[in-house]
Amino acid sequence: MKYFTKLAQAALITVGMLALSSPTAVAKSFKIAVGDSGGSAQHELGKKFVEELEKRTDGRHTARLFLNGQLGSEQDTVNDAAIGTLDFSLLAINNITPFSPTVGVMTLPYVILSLEDAEKLTQGEVGKELTENTIRDAGVRIIGWTYTGFRVLTNSKKPIKTLEDLKGVVIRVPKNEIMIDVYKSWGAPPTPMAWSETFTALQQKVVDGQDNPYLTVHSMKFYEVQKYVTNIRYIFSVEPLIVSEQVFQGLSDKDKKAILEAGNAATLHSATHLRKSEAAIKKDLIAKGMQIDDPANGEKEWIEKATAAVWPKFYESIGGKAKLDNVLKILGR
Ligand code: MLT
Repeated sequence: MKYFTKLAQAALITVGMLALSSPTAVAKSFKIAVGDSGGSAQHELGKKFVEELEKRTDGRHTARLFLNGQLGSEQDTVNDAAIGTLDFSLLAINNITPFSPTVGVMTLPYVILSLEDAEKLTQGEVGKELTENTIRDAGVRIIGWTYTGFRVLTNSKKPIKTLEDLKGVVIRVPKNEIMIDVYKSWGAPPTPMAWSETFTALQQKVVDGQDNPYLTVHSMKFYEVQKYVTNIRYIFSVEPLIVSEQVFQGLSDKDKKAILEAGNAATLHSATHLRKSEAAIKKDLIAKGMQIDDPANGEKEWIEKATAAVWPKFYESIGGKAKLDNVLKILGR
């Protein structure tokens, strides 16, 4: 398979070997890489996970969060976890898709249209299947989901309401084929760039804009370098907590259970956090000088262009058109 890395293959061989040896009950202090800064939705989920992990292992195991991409770019942390040199990583779903393309069903434009849609998919059969696929393709297991909200468009140049307004504005996107193609369908070929380089690129005006949820725009202080927000809703951001499959298989059944339960508790907490905080954060961004506009005509043109061009192009990589049809059916569409 095109995306199946040698690293993931090596990781799975080691997992097999570990499964034959007896799991360790030694107390551990795990490392968790976190792409975003303190105060972010990722940070909130990470703190809850650590608290639950300690509680469920009677303090035997703990974990430390390394914020702001200190342990490497989000995509690099997937490789590090695959080979077992990193225990956990918290990162945006779009940065896993290059390693496990079926996950792309979560980043296809205008599929997830609400937090409730995101919860239904991640916590149901679709989430389970994607978890199995990431173990197979990338050597990492998804054990929790951060819900961060819609990725809104920000820029430093001008208010953008129409696709015509978007022309000539240079937008940074993650190195994610689906997102690159969405902007192309909108007539604005973007600049793919690692998350860890984004703030500086915006500050130095290497790029004019980017998209990320309100919670991320706020915690990353993008209001210092961006003025205009367009309230688009093309991707609802879900950000998985992954564990190295190699590390996971080296644990006792009791510890595995504790980790899965802690991930689940952190997931539920993340949804509550988003529901409670998003409106106030939006208000604060306005108070800090950002101008928020809605896309013209209920986003009609944006939706039509992106879905017509991008959905069919990625049917094969997400596992066939039937996968998307099934997701839409689950979501009642
Ligand atoms: C990205 O734009 O690369 C991600 O959304 C970054 C993140 O918030 O983790």
